[in-house]
Amino acid sequence: MDKLVIKGGKPLFGSVEISGAKNAAVAILPASILASSGVCNIDNIPNIEDVNCLERIIESLGCTVVRNSNSVMIDSTTLHNTDANTEDVRKMRASYYLIGALLSRFKKARVELPGGCPIGVRPIDQHIKGFEALGARVVINHGCVIVEADKLIGTNIFFDVVSVGATINVMLAATLAEGTTTLENVAKEPHVVDVANFLNSMGANVKGAGTDIIRITGVKELKGCTYSVIPDQIEAGTFMIAAAATKGKITIENVIPKHLESISAKLEEMGAEVTENGDSVTVSASGVLKGVNVKTQPYPGFPTDVQQPFSTLLCIAKGRSNVTESIWESRFKHVDELKKMGASIRVEDRTAMIDGVEKLTGAVVRATDLRAGAAMVVAGLIAEGTTEVLDIEHIDRGYPNIENKFKNLGADICRVSSGV
Ligand code: EPU
Repeated sequence: MDKLVIKGGKPLFGSVEISGAKNAAVAILPASILASSGVCNIDNIPNIEDVNCLERIIESLGCTVVRNSNSVMIDSTTLHNTDANTEDVRKMRASYYLIGALLSRFKKARVELPGGCPIGVRPIDQHIKGFEALGARVVINHGCVIVEADKLIGTNIFFDVVSVGATINVMLAATLAEGTTTLENVAKEPHVVDVANFLNSMGANVKGAGTDIIRITGVKELKGCTYSVIPDQIEAGTFMIAAAATKGKITIENVIPKHLESISAKLEEMGAEVTENGDSVTVSASGVLKGVNVKTQPYPGFPTDVQQPFSTLLCIAKGRSNVTESIWESRFKHVDELKKMGASIRVEDRTAMIDGVEKLTGAVVRATDLRAGAAMVVAGLIAEGTTEVLDIEHIDRGYPNIENKFKNLGADICRVSSGV
């Protein structure tokens, strides 16, 4: 297994190009199988393991998938298999979008229960509630979700919790249903809007994505289209944090600054400088940054997926910071790793109390999950001495080319393969 070796303490300078959004891409790829004619050409696809995994899954269902650098062509007219049961399906979270997409197009699906980062319980009751409301029968048997419907009929669904996955999955299921489906208390994340835009490019009629209510009027057929995935809000946030943490200056290119506002606001509150310029933001910091309180919330609140790398930054800020994680109950696994590097953190229930220290020191640490991995990379960049980040397959699931992007900004970071 590979590891990242980082010699910390260098301020980062320069510019970095942000890739397509992971959590949009991993929903758009399954959504593409809704096309019963034509092919989907999707651009700005991030080069990450979760995308590779989904491409393999879609191929195993009978689609033709041709990847070319950052774009992918998917021909799903040849799709014949509605049973998704490979190791890849079990490994990743977003394979659950196949349930909504297959149910919509074929009125049946059998999909192994999804995996993903160990950050909390991760139930799918709201997905199931939506499918059933549309008229599907859902059973979970031997670790598989089995859905079937004679027909799907539009209805009103009020979600009990704001869920990105349930919002997108039920939206997929409703695109070809009879009549209109109204989804209330939905997630408003940028990737939810991106999936709705993608579906509309395929001929769907989805209105209201980005607000609390989404209305989907079923259409007869969806066709292939050409589409470009939005930039990754979380990758951008990670580089913004790295700029402030290393006391450098980084221009983060190919972003939608509006998607970054909650992160920009917190960085400014700490004393960093953030300037927006069209489709880029520049973040710089010098001197001592001050601790702040952070509470994760669904969009437009502070994203849970940025909480872990942001906590690393707070480790070296002056004073006490309280970080409250309201989305995932086990998203503090990075804390023990940060403590190995000299951080002073105490976790009580869902809040991490961080007392800023002068410096972090290099250590051997683990990427316990994807964003914990990003937190450890940022920690390594600021720490005195050498940090080794192990288990980086978690990082590779969601950050394209992370070491080269940081290297180009002046970081001393390299990937070392096992046995080397
Ligand atoms: N929830 C339920 N029932 C459901 C669905 C969710 O109770 O049926 C709860 C969850 O337990 C959680 C909250 O609702 O407390 C929000 O969960 P959500 O469904 O929004 O999460 P998700 O769709 O499983 C996606 C991202 C996560 C990100 C969350 C929140 C993907 C593939 N994953 O997960 O991304 O943290 O939304 O924004 O889109 C990551 O990228 O590192 C990552 C974990």
